Amino acid sequence: MATMKAVRVHEYGGPEALRYEDAPRPDPGPGEVLIRVHAAGVNPVDVAVRAGFFKERIKYPLPMIPGWDVSGVVEATGAGVSRLKVGDEVYSRPDISRNGSYAEYMVAKESEVARKPKSIDHVHAAAIPLAALTAWQALFDAGKLSAGQTALIHGAAGGVGSFAVQFAKLKGARVIAIASARNHDYLRSLGADQVIDYNATKFETVVRDVDVVLDAITGEVADRSYGVIRKGGIYVSILMPPSAEKAAAHGVRVAHVFVQPIVEELDEIAKLVDSGELKVTLEKVFPLAQAAAAQESVATKHTRGKIVLRVI
Ligand SMILES: NC(=O)c1ccc[n+]([C@@H]2O[C@H](COP(=O)([O-])OP(=O)(O)OC[C@H]3O[C@@H](n4cnc5c(N)ncnc54)[C@H](OP(=O)(O)O)[C@@H]3O)[C@@H](O)[C@H]2O)c1
Repeated sequence: MATMKAVRVHEYGGPEALRYEDAPRPDPGPGEVLIRVHAAGVNPVDVAVRAGFFKERIKYPLPMIPGWDVSGVVEATGAGVSRLKVGDEVYSRPDISRNGSYAEYMVAKESEVARKPKSIDHVHAAAIPLAALTAWQALFDAGKLSAGQTALIHGAAGGVGSFAVQFAKLKGARVIAIASARNHDYLRSLGADQVIDYNATKFETVVRDVDVVLDAITGEVADRSYGVIRKGGIYVSILMPPSAEKAAAHGVRVAHVFVQPIVEELDEIAKLVDSGELKVTLEKVFPLAQAAAAQESVATKHTRGKIVLRVI
């Protein structure tokens, strides 16, 4: 049996649960591609899965390999694969219920895999799919944000927020970004029109008539957000499902987004990268063997942009 280096979880727990070791190299089944992983994005969901927070919802056979952001090269194709071929440079947010990208190789469904942006390397490309798709789906698929509207983004300096600020600006919206003061110059550089320090200012005292709120924080932030949205506007959560009753009391709509691996959207996002309109910010790059340190960094909840594992 062919083996590969991978980071696996044998038992759910702290960062020490991540073991860098030899693992069987997977084979692509029908409709699947084998990807030689060059880089793997690290996301808050990886930390939650490793800690066991998803174990009731997703019955991973242990040991499992986390990581649901990948950039790499198609190494082999399974039966029936027609769009992609060996040697294609690709990126993906693959199925979260299967083994992921903290490994030298991973298998993904062809239907989840897009060609990566040509103008950036794999380390930058691996930072994109999960966070950018989430921002896109929250603002555009759920929020229907359009030119001339106002978007407010909670968690604006993080992985999802950094893409959301740029997408909203590119759409022609006015962007209000909420983050601590150390991130304000960064957010202005991404296109934010107004920045608010959540440590210093209650946003509801300075904002009103927003069309779309994208909430990557939730908790009490959700309850405080409904009142700043115009009647008929929308609150979009990417965490807890929002309270339809509370929102209705303010005359606003709600949506909950769980990211979907939509290849056409990854294609659109790749075009924006290649045209120079969309920037990818990396806070830090770790080698695969240091996945535990990378996850500890993500778990601080103060990442600016993204953290990525370099595999090759
Ligand atoms: N539903 C889905 O499909 C989906 C997809 C992706 C992510 N998510 C979830 O969405 C959340 C955000 O994901 P992410 O990848 O963007 O996380 P992340 O990169 O870890 O977010 C870190 C950012 O959060 C900011 N932050 C922390 N507390 C804040 C507050 N009170 N107000 C405003 N900003 C604050 C930090 O800015 P400061 O340092 O300035 O505080 C930091 O830049 C996570 O909980 C993740 O699990 C859900």
